[in-house]
Amino acid sequence: MCGIVGYLGKRNAYPVLIKGLKRLEYRGYDSAGVALLTENGDLRVYKTKGKVSDLESFASDKDTTGCVGIAHTRWATHGEPNSTNAHPHISYTGNLAIIHNGIIENYAVLKKQLQEKGIEFKSNTDTEVLVQLIEYVRTRKNFDLLTSVQVALRAVIGAYAIAILDKDDPDQIIAARKSSPLVVGIGEEEFFLGSDASPIIEYTDKVIYLDDKDIAVIRRNKEVEVVDFHNAKMNHDITKVELNLAQIEKGGFPHFMLKEIFEQPDCLRDCMRGRVNVDANNVVLSAIIDNKERLMNARRFIIIACGTSWHAGLIGKQLIENYCQIPVEVEYASEFRYSNPVINEKDVVIAISQSGETADTLAAIELAKKRGAFIYGICNAIGSSIPRATHTGSYIHVGPEIGVASTKAFTGQVTVLTMLALALAKERNTISNEEYLSLIAELDAIPNKMVELLEQGEKIKEISRIFTYARNFLYLGRGYNYPVALEGALKLKEISYIHAEGYPAAEMKHGPIALIDEEMPVVVIATKNVLYEKVLSNIQEIKARHARVIAIVSKDDVTVKNMADAYIELPHTMECLEPLLATIPLQMLAYYIAVCKGKDVDQPRNLAKSVTVE
Ligand code: F6R
Repeated sequence: MCGIVGYLGKRNAYPVLIKGLKRLEYRGYDSAGVALLTENGDLRVYKTKGKVSDLESFASDKDTTGCVGIAHTRWATHGEPNSTNAHPHISYTGNLAIIHNGIIENYAVLKKQLQEKGIEFKSNTDTEVLVQLIEYVRTRKNFDLLTSVQVALRAVIGAYAIAILDKDDPDQIIAARKSSPLVVGIGEEEFFLGSDASPIIEYTDKVIYLDDKDIAVIRRNKEVEVVDFHNAKMNHDITKVELNLAQIEKGGFPHFMLKEIFEQPDCLRDCMRGRVNVDANNVVLSAIIDNKERLMNARRFIIIACGTSWHAGLIGKQLIENYCQIPVEVEYASEFRYSNPVINEKDVVIAISQSGETADTLAAIELAKKRGAFIYGICNAIGSSIPRATHTGSYIHVGPEIGVASTKAFTGQVTVLTMLALALAKERNTISNEEYLSLIAELDAIPNKMVELLEQGEKIKEISRIFTYARNFLYLGRGYNYPVALEGALKLKEISYIHAEGYPAAEMKHGPIALIDEEMPVVVIATKNVLYEKVLSNIQEIKARHARVIAIVSKDDVTVKNMADAYIELPHTMECLEPLLATIPLQMLAYYIAVCKGKDVDQPRNLAKSVTVE
């Protein structure tokens, strides 16, 4: 969702900005723009609807000189995606340019006040209000830019990461954040800005992660100064980014999503490294060691998350309840934050988020914190807002996820939840030693089983071709595989735009069965576990209604293979670990169907990777 890039230094800014925007494309956007302070002292703004490549074509015959600039990819919230609403926005004097990620909640009131003072607006955006307000304060009060930004931001309600250029001061960029991420990169006599570190790492590994209500003043030949809205100095350490270019490039795969699906065995090895110890026969999570009493004595766990992370939470609930004997609730963060939940200091809230920036999850954390709960974060993006807002946590360590549809983050989240359940169950003595040891060995074996599964890629591609015609899909699973059915359906709808629903298999006859006919393929996770016989009956019911069944089956299965129209074999594993394997063919099925339909797999329409607005 909206990407910010900035540059001030000795290079030509334009290529750095364009490359940076391309690195942020994964966040999802519908228009792009750039503002440059050119060699002859002009403030030039170029913006277009569409992709960064459209912006490049548009600017190809224009003046793109200058060593200072800001650039933006916009994901429309206020006003349709077009070149007028695209950022940067210019102040009424023509002197200031702003880019913004987030939402200004009180923009309508501010806009009315400014209009009453005779200021005209060009766009329908909330962002333009911000630049006009800053300019109004500056010209009316004769303040410098920093003071004007401080005064304006004190009047603003909402979430933002912003960067501002001033035509009359080509040696400065001012940037600020509240509830939307912003990173300052520090090179040799040059500075960078990014919504995350990906546009920066090519040039420097030294960054400052801004905190809420920080304003960074970036000046040529000076150290970056960080102050708050009242001009108090904020101290920030310069952090070294542990991210390399190979991690954010496609590495020979046609799409990031496919690369990320295939990376899963290695990702899980990284996720478990030093945590699942087969030789020592233990599972170690430092967050559990450091907060043993708090977690052991939890009265209840509440898992909060959105989308795919919420699906991982549903699996986490079963793991924690089964092995730790602690009740677990799983809530959508967006509902939780407005639900006046009954929470107290005996509750532990587990917040799951790939990006670590999801606005609803962050707000839910703040609410739970206020009511005394202890917060445990499970995140992927290192240094993002959620890990910084939680009391403790475990990173999933699967590397940057660029494809908008989440794949490796899901299996990473489920792996961390499994480790958490095992480590805590051991401390609480709620798991038998025998089961604990078998689970450690089996968890350790999962990456190799994933490799075996990925070898069926060609077969899954073939199956996908057959089913591209469908307009609706049903996904069924039970127990640990019910959230897998939800996740499979979500993947398909996100990237192929085919309507799909996930259901617990036994619920089928309470409604969805009415939809089943020869036009509706049904994906059934029918592995040989305790509920196998029950799922077999569901398949009979589906076949009796002439629907085609794609079954995810255990390798040695015969019965379902004979009943299904197509099947994908899963290597054997323990029941609670099946989601780690069963999800992979569903990710591939969605991927290949979307490719067959010619869809933009990595950047599906309307979706954003990092949902920083509620
Ligand atoms: C689905 C997907 C989304 C995210 C959701 C939460 O493929 O990516 O449903 O899971 O927006 O995002 P995070 O995990 O970053 O909080």
